[in-house]
Amino acid sequence: MFGSQLRKNGSSGAKTPSNGRYRNGNDHLIELHDVVKTYRSAAGEFTALKGIDLEVDGGEFVAVIGKSGSGKSTLVNMITGIDRLTSGEILVGDTAIQNLKEGKLAEWRGRNIGVIFQFFQLLPTLTAAENIMLPMDFCRMYSTRERRERAMHLLELVGVADQADKLPSTLSGGQQQRVAIARALANDPPILAADEPTGNLDSKTAESVFSLFETLVAQGKTILMVTHDRDLARRATRTVILSDGAVIEEYLAKTFPALTEAQLIEATRNLEPVKFLPGAVILQQGAAPDKFFIITRGRVEVVLPEANGQEIVATTMVKGQYFGEVELRRGGHNIATIRADPVLGVEVAAFERAEFESLLAASTAVHDAIDRTVSERIAENEAARSRLERNHA
Ligand SMILES: Nc1ncnc2c1ncn2[C@@H]1O[C@H](COP(=O)(O)OP(=O)(O)O)[C@@H](O)[C@H]1O
Ligand SMILES: [Mg+2]
Repeated sequence: MFGSQLRKNGSSGAKTPSNGRYRNGNDHLIELHDVVKTYRSAAGEFTALKGIDLEVDGGEFVAVIGKSGSGKSTLVNMITGIDRLTSGEILVGDTAIQNLKEGKLAEWRGRNIGVIFQFFQLLPTLTAAENIMLPMDFCRMYSTRERRERAMHLLELVGVADQADKLPSTLSGGQQQRVAIARALANDPPILAADEPTGNLDSKTAESVFSLFETLVAQGKTILMVTHDRDLARRATRTVILSDGAVIEEYLAKTFPALTEAQLIEATRNLEPVKFLPGAVILQQGAAPDKFFIITRGRVEVVLPEANGQEIVATTMVKGQYFGEVELRRGGHNIATIRADPVLGVEVAAFERAEFESLLAASTAVHDAIDRTVSERIAENEAARSRLERNHA
């Protein structure tokens, strides 16, 4: 939803090169556009992903959460190219992975995405070091001599250098997962994708493996991690919630925790993602309001006019905060001008009045939360205005 909307508003069609940072017109390291995955078997068809739009920037640590069967593994398998999508597109860096042929795809993955599984998936007949050298051999990366050195270096990095010449079966689960992470790093890929990497580890070991991911993110890797563990997920820089094959807008969930999952899906479907360039006016003071906005990236400035015709930035709002509700609830005109941050710009989830009202109707808790905000903001606005007037008196 996000991507396709932005695309419609901004750049041109899917396969036409545009002004994006990457070859296929994408601005983000990873972009999914309306990705559908339907499994077909003798038992019939099952659509596990129902039109996913997702954007991930380089350096993000994204936790993917959701109930069992919600499509988390399917999503990761689409992004890594382990499995094929049914329709839509996935852009990773300069590559549109749905266009890669099978042979090319494996090599592309070997160089660009390190994959980590719940059950480690180390080759049982190879030593730890040999397991790590395998992807280097496969992608013809590094010289034969360098491969062994690099494997040793990576084993050191993940803290199991002393296990280099042992077979996986002689290692503990935590040690095997560390070897698997070293293997994922073999060709120094920019992205790591991990499907429940701590799901088979005790909580202490899970913690140490998770800290290793945090270190890798700090060193510049981009990580997608499916997890059941909400406490670990909270420590990622971002959470993507899957429900029944659809992504729930995370800031909607954070802003209105009282909504049920079904209400969140419905609301996510009804929002319109909009991007504003730095300095763009989103709400003009005095104009008639028509929309409700939740900030999803970047910032906005709340601007009040001064008596001498100058303006003053009363405050800024960041992701997760919302605006437009005062006017929609009270009627009347916008009480302040809201402008995209002059440097960062802003991305918002916009709701039409009718959608906003159905959001309120869906939950008394949301209704009450919004009305509390309305009263607070009117009070703040009046206080700021009287301060301004005093300054000019
Ligand atoms: N190969 C397959 N064939 C048919 N259905 C599948 C297949 N793989 C997964 N599914 C179904 O797709 C849905 C999503 O599965 P999955 O992505 O594994 O969910 P999660 O990882 O969130 O538990 C489930 O209902 C699952 O039964
Ligand atoms: Mg799974």
